[in-house]
Amino acid sequence: MASSTLMLFLLVLYFSFQFSSSLDALNKGYSSLSVEKAEQDIIVSENGMFSAGFFEVGDNAFSFAIWFTTRPDSQNITTPTVVWMANRDQPVNGKRSKLSLLHTGNLALVDAGQFQIWSSETESYLPTELRLGDDGNLVLRELQGGRILWQSFDFPTDTLLPGQHLTRSTQLVSSRTESNHSSGFYKLSFDNRNVLTLLYDGPDVSSTYWPDLVLTVWEAGRFTYNSSRIAVLNPLGHFDSSDNYSVRTSDYGVMLPRRLTIDHDGNLRVYSQDLSQKWYVSMQAISNSCSIHGICGANSVCRFDPKKGRKCSCVPGYKVKNQSDWSYGCESIFSATCNESDFTFLGLDRVEFYGYDYKFEPNCTYTDCENGCLKSSRCKGFQYSYDNVKGVFKCYRKRELLNGHLPGAARTITYLKVPKGNRFPTSYKDSVIRNSDCSVKIHREYLKKHVSHFVSFLLWFAAAIGVLEMTCIFVVLFLIKCQHNSSMDPHGHHLAAVGFRKFTYSELKKATKGFSQEIGRGAGGTVYKALLLDQRIAAVKKLNDAKQGEGEFLAEASIIGRLNHMNLIEMWGYCAEGKHRLLVYEYMENGSLADNLSSNTLDWSKRYNIALGTARGLAYLHEECLEWILHCDIKPQNILLDSNYQPKVADFGLSKLLNRDVLNNDRNFSMIRGTRGYMAPEWVFNLAVTSKVDVYSYGIVLLEMITGKNPAADIQAINGDEPYNGRLVTWVREKKRECASWVEQIMDSALGSNYDENKMEILARVALDCIEEDNEQRPTMSQVVEMLQSQDCDPNGEA
Ligand SMILES: *[C@@H]1O[C@H](CO)[C@@H](O)[C@H](O)[C@H]1NC(C)=O
Ligand SMILES: *[C@@H]1O[C@H](CO)[C@@H](O)[C@H](O)[C@H]1NC(C)=O
Ligand SMILES: *[C@@H]1O[C@H](CO)[C@@H](O)[C@H](O)[C@H]1NC(C)=O
Ligand SMILES: *[C@@H]1O[C@H](CO)[C@@H](O)[C@H](O)[C@H]1NC(C)=O
Ligand SMILES: *[C@@H]1O[C@H](CO)[C@@H](O)[C@H](O)[C@H]1NC(C)=O
Ligand SMILES: *[C@@H]1O[C@H](CO)[C@@H](O)[C@H](O)[C@H]1NC(C)=O
Ligand SMILES: *[C@@H]1O[C@H](CO)[C@@H](O)[C@H](O)[C@H]1NC(C)=O
Repeated sequence: MASSTLMLFLLVLYFSFQFSSSLDALNKGYSSLSVEKAEQDIIVSENGMFSAGFFEVGDNAFSFAIWFTTRPDSQNITTPTVVWMANRDQPVNGKRSKLSLLHTGNLALVDAGQFQIWSSETESYLPTELRLGDDGNLVLRELQGGRILWQSFDFPTDTLLPGQHLTRSTQLVSSRTESNHSSGFYKLSFDNRNVLTLLYDGPDVSSTYWPDLVLTVWEAGRFTYNSSRIAVLNPLGHFDSSDNYSVRTSDYGVMLPRRLTIDHDGNLRVYSQDLSQKWYVSMQAISNSCSIHGICGANSVCRFDPKKGRKCSCVPGYKVKNQSDWSYGCESIFSATCNESDFTFLGLDRVEFYGYDYKFEPNCTYTDCENGCLKSSRCKGFQYSYDNVKGVFKCYRKRELLNGHLPGAARTITYLKVPKGNRFPTSYKDSVIRNSDCSVKIHREYLKKHVSHFVSFLLWFAAAIGVLEMTCIFVVLFLIKCQHNSSMDPHGHHLAAVGFRKFTYSELKKATKGFSQEIGRGAGGTVYKALLLDQRIAAVKKLNDAKQGEGEFLAEASIIGRLNHMNLIEMWGYCAEGKHRLLVYEYMENGSLADNLSSNTLDWSKRYNIALGTARGLAYLHEECLEWILHCDIKPQNILLDSNYQPKVADFGLSKLLNRDVLNNDRNFSMIRGTRGYMAPEWVFNLAVTSKVDVYSYGIVLLEMITGKNPAADIQAINGDEPYNGRLVTWVREKKRECASWVEQIMDSALGSNYDENKMEILARVALDCIEEDNEQRPTMSQVVEMLQSQDCDPNGEA
C-alpha cells in the first residue's frame, strides 16, 4: 500500500511537471476554450491525471469532454479514455465553436459561433471559476464561499469515477459503439424497486437483464427497502450500492486510477490502469455475455464461449442486416404474406429466445402448440420445452424472436416458422462454423439443378421484373461443407464435386435392386446396399417412422449432410417422396465395429485407432463445429469401418429425423433414445441430457473393445437390476481395485499377449473416466482425443 501511494505521488509530480503549461481553470469574464486551439485549450487537473477540452469524435466533429491524460511516453495509447462528455449526441463544428464562462455565470457551449447547444444552466453574479478536480470532477464554483453551481459528477455519461455517486436522479448510458461516443442502448440506474439494474433500451424494445432474471431480487442478494438509492466506487476498488449489491475488484486494496463503465456491449465493468497506462478489467458484472439483452439483435442467436467470447448468428431463413453492427439483428429472406398452409417449422435444439411470448400454455401437445402458431400471423415460432417437475411439455408462442441464446435449457427446442419447401441457408450454423476454430474449409455450392420448376420460375421472374406480388418465395440453396483440410480421404474430393443431392424413389429402388440386399437394421430404419448410377456403392437407409413434412425433413437432412469429417459417415443425399423418407450414405466395406468384434478381426492397434477416430468424430459433433448435435446412440453397430479400418460414426443426427409425435405422448421419451447397455444414467434418472451421455456410451464401447465382452448381453442376464450399468462395468471396476495387473486381466483373450500394455492401459483408464456416474466428472470428447493422442505416435494421425 505504501509503495503504491508513493507511486501515485510520483505520478502526480510527473504530471504536474509535464502539463504546467496548460490551463488551470477558466475564469468568468476572461476565458473561453476554443475548438481551433483544441490542442492547447485544455484544462488539466492539478495532479495531471485528467484533462478537459474539445475532443474530436469524428470528422470535423468535436465534443467537450473530460478524459484521462495520456502521458507522452505511452506511445501505445492512441486514443485517450473519455470519462464524461457534455454533448455526446450533438458534436460541434471544428470551426468557431467555443466553451465560454459567461458573465451571467452560465457555462455555455456554442456551435460554429451561433448555436448554443449545451449549457450548465447556472446563474451567478459573483466571481466564479471552472476547475477540474484531481478526482476528475469538473466544478463550477463561486470563488467567495465556494458554493458549487454545477459539477460534471452530477451528470455522468457512461462512466463513474471513484467517489462519484450514482443517485436516484442519474444513470449511466453506454456508448453506441467502441468508437462512437453517442448514447447507446444500455443503461445502469435504480429502478422503482430501489434495485440497481441494467436495462436494454433499444430502438424498438426494452427490457432489464440484470440482476439475473431467473433469480428473484431477493435471491440475487438485493435489498429493496433502502430508498436512498446510492451507488459508489471507492478508490481501493470496492463498488457498493444501497440495494446491498457490493463487489470488490480483483485488485482490491491498491490505489490505482479506476473507472466503472457501462460498455457498449451492455456489460458493467470496473477498469484499473497499470503503470504503462493500459486499462485492464478488474470487475465484470455479467460473466455470460449472451444473457445481455439485444446483444445480437432480433432473429439471431448468441453463443457464449468462455475462451473466445460471444458469437452472433442469424437463425435459418434470416440474414444479417448490418455485418459490422449486430445490434440491428437479422431480417427474414422470405415474404411473410404467405397463408397458413404455406408454413412449416424448423427445430433448433436448445435454442431459447427470452420474452415476447404472446401465449403460454403449461401443458400442451406438440400438435396443439404447432397449430396455434400456424393459425396466428403474428406467431414467428414457438418454444417447446419439457417441464421436468410436472412431466409435461410447455408451449411458448413467440411474437418476436429476441434475446436468442444457445445453449438454453436441456430438452428445449425452438421451432421457427418458415415457408414450406425451402432449404434455407442455415447461416445460424454457418456462422458458428466460420467463427469456430476448427480448421474447416467451407464450400458453397448452388444446387440449381434441384430447384423445382415452380421455384426457379419464381426466381427468374423476380430477377427479371424485380419486386412483385409473390406469395411464397425463394430458394437459395447453399450447400456448405464443413470439411477438414487435412482429410486425406480420396472420397472427400470426389464428394465435394458431386455434392449432396436429392434422389428419386424409383432411382433408389433400382439402385437397391428393389430393396433386396439388406445390410443392417438400426434406429428407425433398415439399411440396404445400393449401386448408384455413377457406379458408386452406397448404403441406403429407409426410415420407418419419419412423418415430417418434406421441408422440415429436408432442412434437417441437409444439416446432417453438411457435416464432413473423416470419422463421420458421409451422407450423399436423401429422398422425400410421399411417405418415403430415405437417406443415402457412403458404403463401408468392412462393416460395423460390432461385426468385426464378434468375428475377431481386430488386433490391438486397430482397436486403438478405432477408439481414437471415433473420439475425433464425436468431438467434432459435440464441440468443434456443431455443438448441439448429440448422437445419443453410440454403440459398436453405429461405428463403421472403411477399407483401412478407419472408423466412421454413423446414424448421428437421426433423432432429428424421426417422428416427433413420440415425444409428445411419451413422458419417458428419454427411454426411447439409446440402446440398453450403452445408456448413460441421465436417461434412466431423467436428468438433463448433455453431450456427456455420448461420452458415457463411448466409454462402454471402449470397454467392449478392450474386453471383447458385450455389455448389452450382460444387461439381459442381470434383468433390470441396474439398467444402465451392467455387470461388465462392475467387473472392470473390481478388477482395477483388486489387482495391479488389472489391464492384463480384463483384456480380450482373443488378443493373446500381443498388445502394447501402455496404450491399452490408457484406453482402459479413459474408458473408466468416461463412465463416471456423475456426468461432470466425465471428460469431454475433445479431452478424450487429447488423452489418446498423447499416446499415439501414428504419423497419419491428424494434428
Ligand atoms: C454514432 O451513432 C449515432 C447513432 O447511431 C449516429 O447517428 C452517428 O452518426 C454516429 N457517429 C459517428 C461518428 O459514426
Ligand atoms: C507497446 O506495446 C508492445 C506490445 O504490447 C510492448 O512490447 C511495448 O513495450 C509497448 N511500448 C510502450 C512504450 O509501452
Ligand atoms: C446484504 O448482503 C450480505 C451478504 O452480501 C448479507 O449478509 C446481508 O444480510 C444483506 N443485507 C440485507 C439487508 O439484505
Ligand atoms: C441504505 O444505504 C446506504 C448507502 O449504502 C447506507 O448508508 C444506509 O445505512 C442504508 N440504510 C438502511 C436503512 O439500510
Ligand atoms: C452498419 O453499421 C455501421 C456502424 O454502426 C454503420 O457505420 C454503417 O453505416 C451501417 N451500415 C448500414 C448499411 O446500415
Ligand atoms: C391460402 O392458399 C390457398 C391455396 O394456395 C387458397 O386456396 C386459400 O384461399 C388461401 N387462404 C387465404 C386465407 O388466403
Ligand atoms: C396435461 O394434459 C393432459 C391432457 O389434457 C392431462 O391428462 C394431464 O393430466 C395434464 N397434466 C398436468 C400436469 O396438468
